[in-house]
Amino acid sequence: MPRILAIANQKGGVGKSTTCSTLGAALAESGLQVLMVDLDPQAGLTVSLGLDPDSFELTSYDFLIRAETLTVDDLVIPIGTPGVDLIPANLDLAGAEAELIGEIGWDRTLKDNLGLITRAYNYILIDGPPSLGVLTTNSLMAAHQVIVPVQTEFLALRGLTQLQRIIAKVQKKGNPGLAVKILRTMHISRTVHSTEVVTELERAFGAQVYETVIKRTIKFPEASRAGKTLLTLARDSEGAQAYRRLAQEVMADG
Ligand SMILES: Nc1ncnc2c1ncn2[C@@H]1O[C@H](COP(=O)(O)OP(=O)(O)OP(=O)(O)O)[C@@H](O)[C@H]1O
Ligand SMILES: [Mg+2]
Repeated sequence: MPRILAIANQKGGVGKSTTCSTLGAALAESGLQVLMVDLDPQAGLTVSLGLDPDSFELTSYDFLIRAETLTVDDLVIPIGTPGVDLIPANLDLAGAEAELIGEIGWDRTLKDNLGLITRAYNYILIDGPPSLGVLTTNSLMAAHQVIVPVQTEFLALRGLTQLQRIIAKVQKKGNPGLAVKILRTMHISRTVHSTEVVTELERAFGAQVYETVIKRTIKFPEASRAGKTLLTLARDSEGAQAYRRLAQEVMADG
């Protein structure tokens, strides 16, 4: 049974896709088999891995809407990093919300369809969109754990209440085992304020906060522009090491 991690935050640009690709690559470096699912119509994950979203005939849209008519393993593509596969996304996925919402059990679709995958993965990482709709709810229903990347900056905590409310609802109504972890990202260690937010998050969420803090560095956008993860672009960089430490924490969770 793979462990399923949803990466979610309705705030845009907080490092969801970067966390999905870099954490996934770090888990694979430890010898684990990883499947990444791009569940964002903007396809940030697919693009940052150097792939053209419009080049795929089958995407996460098909995976959600008509998995039973397909051999789901055909949707999975290797990305060139050993141990890592991807179900890519493109704009088709924007139509999935409206199509799913009319269906009975719409919120369990992703969970059910992930169950159709026959390849053996240790981890499935789901990269969510910057919104709290049908796609995010599906990822929360499917996951054992949700990772919430939060920028350590002013107002970073503001949107969290809304997300926490949805997580609580999912825990109550369909997925009681869903664990929650906060990942502090894009941290600027020089500023007093960022350091305050780091502490504030610890105070508010305690053991639900990963010890690893991801610092802000230009190397991350450089890596995604090169269509690689930082683990291969600059394998000894501080950012790469941080995601390896995060992978250790993730593995310790189960
Ligand atoms: N630690 C970091 N330091 C500096 N830049 C980063 C860091 N992590 C991610 N970035 C960059 O910030 C931008 C947004 O990151 P990313 O795409 O991972 O966020 P996202 O939450 O997935 O965004 P969206 O909500 O739009 O999908 C990208 O250009 C990415 O390369
Ligand atoms: Mg993204």
